[in-house]
Amino acid sequence: MDFAPHHGAKGLPERIVAGGLVIRGWSPDDLQARYAAVVESYDHLHPWMEWLSEPPTLERQRRWGEQQSDPGRSTSERSYGIFDAREGTLLGVVGAHDRLGPAVLEIGYWCHVAHTGKGVITRAADALTRAALALDGVERVEIRCDRANSRSAAVARRLGYRLDRIENDGIYAPAECGQSLVWTRDRDSRLPWTDCSDTRP
Ligand SMILES: CC(C)(COP(=O)(O)OP(=O)(O)OC[C@H]1O[C@@H](n2cnc3c(N)ncnc32)[C@H](O)[C@@H]1OP(=O)(O)O)[C@@H](O)C(=O)NCCC(=O)NCCS
Repeated sequence: MDFAPHHGAKGLPERIVAGGLVIRGWSPDDLQARYAAVVESYDHLHPWMEWLSEPPTLERQRRWGEQQSDPGRSTSERSYGIFDAREGTLLGVVGAHDRLGPAVLEIGYWCHVAHTGKGVITRAADALTRAALALDGVERVEIRCDRANSRSAAVARRLGYRLDRIENDGIYAPAECGQSLVWTRDRDSRLPWTDCSDTRP
């Protein structure tokens, strides 16, 4: 099947406001808050996050910040901070990757440990899914999570993603079992689309 060309993750908006959240690209002023969130959430994130195999350091955070502000950086991924709309607190992170071939974007996320269980990631992933499927040429959005990561799978399920397949793709973080659940949401999915943006924790 041919798809219209799409501009991938770089076509996504810089800022989305939904469900009491501001989901926006990073500014240099956010680096301290992001670093604090990773430090405070290390035990919660380390079991599942390949990029957090060791405790964070200021040096690594500085390099990450430089990559984010590099005008020549890859446009095949977008990372957003999720902020409380009223207080501006950093609650978590959601991002989109353009690495699964034409017409597909992949969404990933993590939550500050102090803000889990409140629907933050559900609402942010819902908003980003909608924004992705609104882009010309994007026909499908995927969420991939290790089979052992039941909280991540619950987010995909809650948003009406369909479990498409299970792939053996190896262990990249300590709690993983090595099998990935691949959840998909199609542009013309007939599944019910629960609007998660209206309710607040
Ligand atoms: C996976 C992860 C992001 C899920 O976080 P989470 O807190 O479970 O997800 P949410 O923030 O959407 O919260 C969902 C809960 O909020 C509740 N909730 C409250 N208000 C809600 C609202 N307005 N909308 C949706 N859910 C709401 C849900 O009922 C659900 O409750 P439950 O946990 O009792 O079932 C988090 O556990 C995490 O950061 N894990 C480590 C990193 C990771 O694994 N990332 C994913 C890699 S694939």
